[in-house]
Amino acid sequence: MLDTATIRPQFPILETSVHGKPLIYLDNAATTQKPLAVLDATRNYYETQNANVHRGSHYLSQLATEAHEEARETAARFINAPETAEVLFTSGCTMGINLAADTIARSGMVKPGDEVILTASEHHSNIVPWQMLCERTGAVLKVVPLTPGQTLDMEAYRNLLSPRTRIVAVGHVSNTLGTVNPVQEITALAKENRPDTIVLIDGAQAVSHMNVDVQELGCDLYAFSGHKLYAPTGIGALWGKRELLEKLPPWMGGGEMIKEVTFEKTVYNDIPFKYEAGTPNIGGAVGLAAAIRYVSGLGLDNIAAHEQKLTDMAVEGLKAMPRLTVLAPDVPHSAVVSVLADGIHHYDLGTLLDQMGIAVRTGHHCCQPLMCALRTTGTTRASFALYNTEEEVQTFLKSMNRALDMLS
Ligand code: ALA
Repeated sequence: MLDTATIRPQFPILETSVHGKPLIYLDNAATTQKPLAVLDATRNYYETQNANVHRGSHYLSQLATEAHEEARETAARFINAPETAEVLFTSGCTMGINLAADTIARSGMVKPGDEVILTASEHHSNIVPWQMLCERTGAVLKVVPLTPGQTLDMEAYRNLLSPRTRIVAVGHVSNTLGTVNPVQEITALAKENRPDTIVLIDGAQAVSHMNVDVQELGCDLYAFSGHKLYAPTGIGALWGKRELLEKLPPWMGGGEMIKEVTFEKTVYNDIPFKYEAGTPNIGGAVGLAAAIRYVSGLGLDNIAAHEQKLTDMAVEGLKAMPRLTVLAPDVPHSAVVSVLADGIHHYDLGTLLDQMGIAVRTGHHCCQPLMCALRTTGTTRASFALYNTEEEVQTFLKSMNRALDMLS
């Protein structure tokens, strides 16, 4: 189990006071706080190694290149990628999905009338890039609906699979509902239907809460962000199978993505560099590697067990409040719980909680189609991380009760 008494001092920002109250940070699905290990590694990089990568024969350039490529290795091991070269650094999950969708669109693999399957609970980052692909290729979006209990309707998914299915893009964990989608089964069904279907998993809300093994999942592409994994903002990774990454065209042009350039023709670099034009976020990659070492040191299983306890406590406590409806009430949640409050605007609830020192997120959570399906404009969402405590959850529940009373 995790010892939060020794963990919390590693996150200096948790000492913040908000409106005279101790901060209770429950907006971890939006971004996590950063431990000293990450802050120190990033600072150490800029203090002792900073240079551009791959471009110079000088000492610092070699140090920076080694740090960058070690970070890639660390990220590859973290998700059990078969090869380090299959991990592309991105600015975050959104860029990873855009890179995938845009290069697939330009590859000629998707024909007019082909189908792209998404789900009703996707984040805009896993909807809009595919809409853009459809505009460009003439493909058609198909959406897996939710059951009345807000889980994925797997029967509807099976029925949507067709000979025209070309892409399946699904979130591993819903950022709004906290539901864990059966992505291994979703992938297996897609491949059974048509082996060359490209399956992308949006892992933004998964990698900090559970062990992820891309080989076990069987998907083709897996995207995640660093900043939801205790790393700095502006860094993330997209893993893809070598065969697919080699087949797809490069994305942006410039810098490290070339082998040779003449005005007549450019020969592109090998993966992963083919996808990494321009100076990369080297300090961010170093921070990401430090974050991965930090969570791996604590153990993803231990983190998951700790967060499960907090989440279950929050879900049960919120369910007991008559004016609240907990979304996806009948299934386990992965560190996220959203509620609808009868007759109360989510913004008012969030503002009152903030006055009590509690940071939650309110609104549509970048999931407007999900809000449409739920017939609401927004939810109030609490999301947990490895440094949250049972006492914080109890205070959150008491504060929620108080806020509901005040708004009655
Ligand atoms: N996608 C992030 C969230 O769910 C920003 O809050």
